[in-house]
Amino acid sequence: MSKVTVIGAGNVGATCANVLAFYRIADEVVMLDVKEGVAEGKAIDMLQTAQTLGFETKITGVTGDYSATAGSDVYVVTSGIPRKPGMTREELIGTNAKIVKSVVENCLKNSPNAVFIIISNPMDTMTYLTLKATGLPKNRVIGMGGALDSSRFKYYLSQALKSNPAQIEGIVIGGHGDTTMIPLKRFATCSGVPVSSLLDAAALDKVVSDTMVGGATLTGLLGTSAWYAPGAAGAYVASSVLNDYKRLIPSCVYLEGEYGQSDICIGVPAVIGRSGVERIVDFKLNDEEKALFEKSADAVRKTNNVLKEIGAL
Ligand code: 2OP
Repeated sequence: MSKVTVIGAGNVGATCANVLAFYRIADEVVMLDVKEGVAEGKAIDMLQTAQTLGFETKITGVTGDYSATAGSDVYVVTSGIPRKPGMTREELIGTNAKIVKSVVENCLKNSPNAVFIIISNPMDTMTYLTLKATGLPKNRVIGMGGALDSSRFKYYLSQALKSNPAQIEGIVIGGHGDTTMIPLKRFATCSGVPVSSLLDAAALDKVVSDTMVGGATLTGLLGTSAWYAPGAAGAYVASSVLNDYKRLIPSCVYLEGEYGQSDICIGVPAVIGRSGVERIVDFKLNDEEKALFEKSADAVRKTNNVLKEIGAL
């Protein structure tokens, strides 16, 4: 029996829970929220789709009752405020750091062996905070950003190529920020054919820049941050943990020398299996990519430093 708890039953958390339940990724899904009745209501609403859609996953919603999450294999943490149009993810740090820290401490009291998937923004810094505040081994804390950013990269590539999205491969590394993420155009393919031989340089550069502001574009359209792709990406990472799929997922993980960086959580390709981060795949970047990665790491580190300034670490 596998159990996943999603903390935060807002747009992203509820979408993640719905994907986990509908696709039977977990046997049991718990949603926890601080707003009275919201998680309970969403759980009942989802359960009322069970017959129509044909799934038997157990779904529970609770208000602040961490004991209901006991024995979770995985926690997906979406708590905190989302950004509004014009805001950066980094501006959320003061509010979200306090929330995320107390959330993960409560989760660990009830499920000491769980793997944590962090979605709350600024995601790289919230992943780092989770790791440092709890002292958890580095394999058990995974930030979700790379899975989401890569899905946006693949979407924009499929649009530019006018081709089947299922045939596109591509990864985004670096920070989960409008200026820090690095869509690796050199490695993207359409059914094994490098996209650099299918698109001209200007078209490919436009895909890269559209990907980088992909979240901000949706925030502008929606008035709040996106949820379908972030929620699904969280479930995708969770399924690799629960089923030991060992998917290679660009994930925000703790580096100790890989890619020339230490004491930072940032997006790199990692094998995700039952124990969480099983292996970091440290492949050779070219000079241009290396320079972008260093710049990205500097920006993430700057945001991490704010944790100390506000007394969160
Ligand atoms: C996004 O990029 C929520 O950070 C998330 O949409």
